[in-house]
Amino acid sequence: MTPLHHLRAGIIGTGFIGPVHIEALKRLGVQVQGVCGSTASALACAEQWGIPEAYGDYDYEAMYANPEIDVIHITSPNKVHVEQSLAALAAGKHVICEKPLGMTSEETAQVVAAARKAKRVFAVNYVSRFFPAVLQMRAMVERGELGRIIHVQGHFFQDWLRKETDYNWRLLANEGGELRAVGDIGTHWIDSVSFILGARVKKVFGTLKTFHKTRLRPKDEVKTFAKIDPKKMESFAVDTEDFASVLLEFGKAKHGHVNGVHANCAVSQVAAGWKCSLYFGIYGTEGSVRWDSQQSNEILLGRRDQPNQVLQRNTPGFDVDVANFTDYPGGHAEGFSDVHKMHYRAVYEHIASGKTSPALFATAADGHHEVELCEAILRSGKSQRWEVV
Ligand SMILES: NC(=O)c1ccc[n+]([C@@H]2O[C@H](COP(=O)([O-])OP(=O)(O)OC[C@H]3O[C@@H](n4cnc5c(N)ncnc54)[C@H](O)[C@@H]3O)[C@@H](O)[C@H]2O)c1
Repeated sequence: MTPLHHLRAGIIGTGFIGPVHIEALKRLGVQVQGVCGSTASALACAEQWGIPEAYGDYDYEAMYANPEIDVIHITSPNKVHVEQSLAALAAGKHVICEKPLGMTSEETAQVVAAARKAKRVFAVNYVSRFFPAVLQMRAMVERGELGRIIHVQGHFFQDWLRKETDYNWRLLANEGGELRAVGDIGTHWIDSVSFILGARVKKVFGTLKTFHKTRLRPKDEVKTFAKIDPKKMESFAVDTEDFASVLLEFGKAKHGHVNGVHANCAVSQVAAGWKCSLYFGIYGTEGSVRWDSQQSNEILLGRRDQPNQVLQRNTPGFDVDVANFTDYPGGHAEGFSDVHKMHYRAVYEHIASGKTSPALFATAADGHHEVELCEAILRSGKSQRWEVV
């Protein structure tokens, strides 16, 4: 493993996911040099994690001016991702930006162009690619072990926005984007499945539904997943979807085992009982794989004429090269936080090696493609027709 402590990170955002980035970087031995947020939260976060520099008042430009910082992690809300990404590239920084890359494909196209011009590494945090099981399923599809892929089915389900008193900035189209459940979690599903199949989505048909037409919101800012006192809330009209059904048609993969695959995906943030389940089944002529991120260490391998098998992470059912993306022996569960660590390791090793070759992580172009997909799903939701991406 390449030592990474000569690279220094600066983090924007101190909410739910910002500290997940910080913890993963600390586990990798990367130096977290600065953190930027509201003045109180940046100071508290710096104190908590022993980060030398706190940049308050959301003053990310001040942090970018520090020449010691090599890589910027953007973990702020969606509406400022593009502005903060463009400024980071202009300041000569490498970037890991949270998903979605931006609010519209018009603005995310600017990031793609700027990243290309700046010759900096730019990654979008579609971390699910780095579950060892996802990498394993990708290798199996590529080698043709499942035969020709016929169809894909799955969901991304959560229940943290089930009640009308559950509030987050994501509920507002002008804060998080016009598509909420699909943009926030559905794009993880599409990115993971595209990554496994080695093919991009060509057309989509989406049905979008809002169960809570009005909700209650607090008067002050709240952190993701935080509980709020309903007495301190006011009513507002919801302009984003709670759940969706999306049909997708994939194009051709270079390896030849995927061509015109049909997929159906259900997305919900109001599905009682599901905490954070990214699930899919990939069905081929020779067999299938089924996997749920809530049991992320195992893949169910299905066969028509042989017994089904459970493949376990870091045991002989998983490839040797997938072992580069797991640190603990089989049976010692790895999950959400480990996936972040593996993703940042891959990005930082890429930076350290000075490589410009294609990498496993999602690039600015991949992040832009996901936003284009969201726009096509939104169009389809309105037209109730297939829409080309
Ligand atoms: N990849 C993943 O698995 C994953 C998981 C959760 C969230 N996310 C993404 O991370 C981002 C943040 O989500 P979250 O759940 O942590 O939200 P959050 O509301 O908990 O935290 C957002 C943070 O950004 C800060 N902030 C607000 N405006 C800012 C600005 N202009 N400049 C800098 N900081 C600002 C807030 O003070 C807060 O600390 C979103 O884009 C979300 O989609 C990704």
